[in-house]
Formats: sequence, structure tokens, C-alpha cells
Amino acid sequence: MKNRYLLSVICVAFVALAPGCKPPEKAVQIRPVVIADGEVDPAVWGKAYPVNYDMWRKTAEPTSPGKSKYKRGFDADGITYDKLSEFPYMALLFSGWGFGVEYNEPRGHANMIKDQLDIDPSRLKAGGVCLTCKTPYAPKLEKEKGLDFYSKSFDEVRSMIPEQHQTLGVACIDCHDNKDMSLRISRGYTLGKALEVIKVDPAKLTHQDMRSLVCAQCHVTYNIPKDAGKSVGVYFPWQGSSWGDISVENIIKQIRNDPSIGEWTQKVTGYKMPFMRHAEFELFSRNSVHWQAGVACADCHMPYTRVGAVKASDHRIMSPLKSDLRACQQCHTESPEWLRNQVTAIQDRTVSLMVRSGYATATAAKLIEKVHELQAAGKTIDKDLYEKAKDFYLEAFFRTLFIGGENSVGFHNPSEALRILGDSTAFAMKSEALLRQALTKAGEIVPIEVNLELEKYLDNRGAKKLMRQTGVEIKDPFNVQEKLVAVQEKPVKVLTK
Ligand code: HEC
Ligand code: HEC
Ligand code: HEC
Ligand code: HEC
Repeated sequence: MKNRYLLSVICVAFVALAPGCKPPEKAVQIRPVVIADGEVDPAVWGKAYPVNYDMWRKTAEPTSPGKSKYKRGFDADGITYDKLSEFPYMALLFSGWGFGVEYNEPRGHANMIKDQLDIDPSRLKAGGVCLTCKTPYAPKLEKEKGLDFYSKSFDEVRSMIPEQHQTLGVACIDCHDNKDMSLRISRGYTLGKALEVIKVDPAKLTHQDMRSLVCAQCHVTYNIPKDAGKSVGVYFPWQGSSWGDISVENIIKQIRNDPSIGEWTQKVTGYKMPFMRHAEFELFSRNSVHWQAGVACADCHMPYTRVGAVKASDHRIMSPLKSDLRACQQCHTESPEWLRNQVTAIQDRTVSLMVRSGYATATAAKLIEKVHELQAAGKTIDKDLYEKAKDFYLEAFFRTLFIGGENSVGFHNPSEALRILGDSTAFAMKSEALLRQALTKAGEIVPIEVNLELEKYLDNRGAKKLMRQTGVEIKDPFNVQEKLVAVQEKPVKVLTK
């Protein structure tokens, strides 16, 4: 348990700043029980480590939505909070594929495959590759089935998982070595390769590094290369980056330069696009205050907890706000209220700038749509102006997407999040200015306020959820009329904020 010593070193180093910082006590629970190689079933591991197992199972339960302003997840009324309702500009920007139909806030680990089965099927079009971060069988399937693992449909690959585990999410084997319970990277084919790309020698990784890297197997952005429309792989776009410095700029450069990863076509602009997702590790590890101080994901999301006579790392992984900031108090002496306010203040600032960048990007998208309409009607558009505007638009889009998809709402690295959003807004405004110039040159009068027609995009939201809630079948998720009929037949509580 080297990390505990490492943590004490951090604590000593910061003792002047955080006087209450004390290293957690050592676990007393480890038992020398043999778990067979390749054993996936958490219940079997649980026989050896019942306390960890019980906490792990609790990730299936709803968390306390009232304790977190932005990560409400799933509340007691059965409302799943979704990003498209909270941030309507996302519905416009993502229109054209699954994320524009349904995009929910995350829930506990035990729900991951259930949530995939529940979500609009358009979100699973990439196929079996979607199971990379959802099933503990992924590494085995990838090794045995090769290309089929990526390219076969989601249902086909899921059916290759033993039946009793077809809805099993992250399991012990994903993070632990069965022999000595040390932390391990099970996803060599994704994270292992990405570490090679940034020239990290696995032998030099410390225990504290591993307490973040087990999470970085999934909490990162990734690309799915395609060949003739079929998924043929998955990789993390870390080219050009290094340990502790995986920048959004390098990621954007990589995804814009890899022609094999056009995953979807953005409806409003007609552009074939890559996508970015939940880049928790990348944002956190890029020089954040906590990363610099040697803090790992597990320090905040898996704090040491007393359970009866033993102490164990909390395997009910969730938002630290929902466990009343217990984790923070390992190092901070401030009250939970003070810490919660601090988190919320950081998040409010992030959201304020994120919404600004999102709407600015959406405005540029609508003007690009206008340009394309004019071109279709035979008008000539200044090519230079248009190409520059397109370039700036994409730079703006990917930056707002990066922070919008990162799940801490800026907390993991507040100043970096604001920097990225500031750049996004600046790029979007430049794009808008150039587009206005191009449109004016073509004789078009652009109003001061560009109509985003948001209702048009929001109407595509959550058809499947509505079906589930109303029991009325909706055949075409893009058919608004059909959805309205469903709601009228059986009114439901639909989140409109
Ligand atoms: C094998 C992939 C995988 C690994 C490894 C993993 N996660 Fe997750 N995590 C997910 C997925 C997928 C979700 C979303 C599940 C859903 O919404 O159904 C998630 C959700 C979460 C949530 C939200 C929980 C909630 O209650 O809303 C937190 C917090 C989290 N993970 C933190 C971590 C931390 C910290 C680690 C490392 C100790 C980690 N995860 C390791 C895939 C993973
Ligand atoms: C210094 C503490 C700290 C560290 C270190 C940290 N997080 Fe977080 N994390 C937070 C806080 C605070 C939130 C915001 C929770 C909220 O708003 O409810 C959060 C949010 C999240 C969420 C969304 C939770 C939800 O309920 O939807 C995920 C997922 C997550 N973190 C994963 C990670 C991963 C992966 C790492 C390491 C790469 C990491 N965190 C490192 C404190 C931390
Ligand atoms: C998402 C990754 C992840 C998963 C899944 C996971 N663990 Fe852990 N586990 C950790 C981390 C991180 C630690 C802290 C290790 C350390 O610092 O030494 C840990 C620690 C432990 C320890 C050492 C004692 C303690 O509590 O610190 C035991 C025992 C353990 N886990 C059992 C399990 C069992 C059993 C399961 C499955 C039911 C499981 N773990 C699932 C990440 C995980
Ligand atoms: C393992 C130790 C550790 C843990 C756990 C930890 N912190 Fe920190 N935190 C630090 C250190 C060290 C600093 C930098 C020195 C300082 O300002 O005290 C810091 C700085 C901060 C800052 C000011 C810098 C910034 O990024 O704005 C805030 C706010 C903060 N922590 C909140 C939290 C919250 C909330 C949690 C729990 C979710 C948490 N911390 C968990 C060690 C920790």
C-alpha cells in the first residue's frame, strides 16, 4: 500500500496549507484467498472480500440527487436527467445521430449495460465496440473475436457474453489482479496502447498513478475508426501529448486529421464529424491543482470508509458531493458546506461560459446552414471566407463538446476548463463574423439575432424514453407529431428546464 505513504508525503508537503490533512489508516481486511485466473464473477471475489463487494453492489442504487446541483443522475421520481433538456443548444449541435436524440447524465457503475439497453437504439449504432467500457468480458472478447468484436452489432456481441453476466457492469477483474488484489490495467488494447503513444513506461507507474489509471481505462475520450461504415477499432487520441499534458489542442489535431473516424453527420452543417466524450482523465491530469498535489481519482471517489470493524476504500463510486464530501476531508479542514459551495461556485462559472460557447457555436452552425442553402440555390459564396469560418467553427465546436462531455462540470480542472471554453467562444465569434461577411457579400441580409429554431431539434429528444413512460409506440423518433400523440394519450412528467 505504497500510496498511503505517498499520500502522507503529500500531506506533509501541504501541511501548512491544509493542516488537517492526515493519511487514512491502513486496510485490515485483506485475506489470502485464492481467486482463479480469469474469474469474472464479482460474487466469487466477494466471498473473499465481502465488505468491498457489498459497497460495489450499492452502485446499483439511486444516489441523492438533491446534494449535487449539476449531477442529479436519476431521481426518486424516475426522471433521468438529460443534457439535451438542460443545455438545449446541444440538441442542435448533436442533431443527426444518437447523442441528439438521448444524452443522459451518468449513473452508478452497476447500471451501465442496463442503461445502454434502455437508451435510444440510435446510440448503439457503432456496434459491439460500445461494450469496450461496459463489460468485464471486453478484453477477452476483443482478443478472441478480433475484428468481429468491433464490427458486429451491439446485440450480437452482447450475446457472446455468458448469459448470467449480460447486464454486469465494471467488475473487480477490471481493476484488480486476482492474485494479490493489486491494481491492474485490464484494457491493454485501449489504455495500454495509449500509454505507449505518450511514451509512458508501465514499469515506472506508481501505485498512486494506478489509482487514477484504473479509471482512465474508461473515463477518457476515444475514437472509433471505420471502414466502409463498419467499426474496426477503438483508440484514445493522445498522439503528440505526454503524461500530465494531454491537451485539448492535441486531441483536436488528431481527430481532425484522422480521416477514418467520421462517425456521424451533423445535420445542421452537413459535416461528417468525429466526436468526443467524458474526458475526465485528460482534463484532470493536465496540470490541475489536485493532480499537481499528487491526488488520484480514487482519493476523491473512493475514500477510506469505516465499515464495522474494518476500513476499506469506498467501492460505491459516485459524486463526492453525494457522500457529503467525506473524501475531501481527508485533506481539507473546511466544513462540508464550505467545500460544497466551492464546488458549486466552480461549476456555476463553468456552466456560464459553457452555455455562452455553446450558443455561439450553434449560431455559427445556423449561419453555415444558411450559406449551404444559398449555395444550393446557385449563389456564389466567397471561398476563402467560408473555409476560414468552417475551420474556426470546428475548433469552437470541439472545445465546447470537450467540456460539455466532461463529467465534473469544470471541477476537475477549473482554470483549464475556463480556458478551453474561452477559446471556444472566441473561435465561434470569429466564425460568425466571417460567415456574416460571406453572406453579406452574397447579398443576404443576416438579422442581428440569428434564429436557432431550437424547438425543431429538441423535438427529437428521448423518443424511447417517452415510449417507456407512456407505453405508446413511437415508430419514428424524428416525428414530432407522433411523440405529441404519445404524451397526450398518457401525460407524463417531462423535464423542460
Ligand atoms: C470499465 C469502464 C469503467 C471503469 C474502469 C470506471 N468507470 Fe466510472 N463509469 C463508467 C461508465 C460507463 C459510467 C456511466 C454508467 C451509467 O450511466 O450507466 C460510469 C460512471 C461513473 C460515475 C458516476 C456515478 C453516479 O452515481 O452517477 C463516477 C463518479 C465514476 N464512474 C467514477 C469512476 C472512478 C473514480 C473510476 C476508477 C476508480 C471509474 N469510474 C472506473 C465506466 C467505468
Ligand atoms: C479532488 C477531488 C477529485 C478528483 C481527484 C477527481 N474527481 Fe471526479 N469529481 C469530483 C467532484 C467534486 C465532482 C462533481 C460532482 C458533482 O457535481 O456532483 C466530480 C465528478 C466526477 C464524475 C461525474 C459524477 C456524476 O455523479 O455524474 C465522474 C465520472 C468523475 N468525477 C470521474 C473522475 C475521474 C475518472 C477522476 C480521475 C481522472 C476524477 N474524477 C478525479 C472530485 C474529484
Ligand atoms: C473501478 C475500479 C475498481 C473496481 C471495479 C473494484 N475495485 Fe477494489 N479497489 C480499487 C481501488 C482504486 C482500490 C484502492 C487500492 C489501493 O490504493 O491500494 C481498491 C481496493 C480494494 C481492496 C483493498 C482494500 C481496500 O478497501 O482498500 C480490496 C480487497 C478490493 N478493492 C476488492 C474489490 C472487489 C471484491 C471488487 C469487486 C466486487 C472490487 N474491488 C472492484 C478499484 C476497484
Ligand atoms: C489527497 C488530498 C486531497 C483531497 C482528497 C482533496 N483535496 Fe482539494 N486540495 C488538495 C491540495 C493539496 C490542494 C492545493 C493546496 C490548497 O489549496 O490547500 C487542494 C486545493 C483545493 C481547492 C482550491 C484549488 C482549486 O482547484 O480551486 C479546492 C476548491 C479544493 N481543493 C476542493 C476539494 C474538494 C471539494 C475535494 C473533495 C471532492 C478535495 N478538494 C479533495 C488536496 C486534496
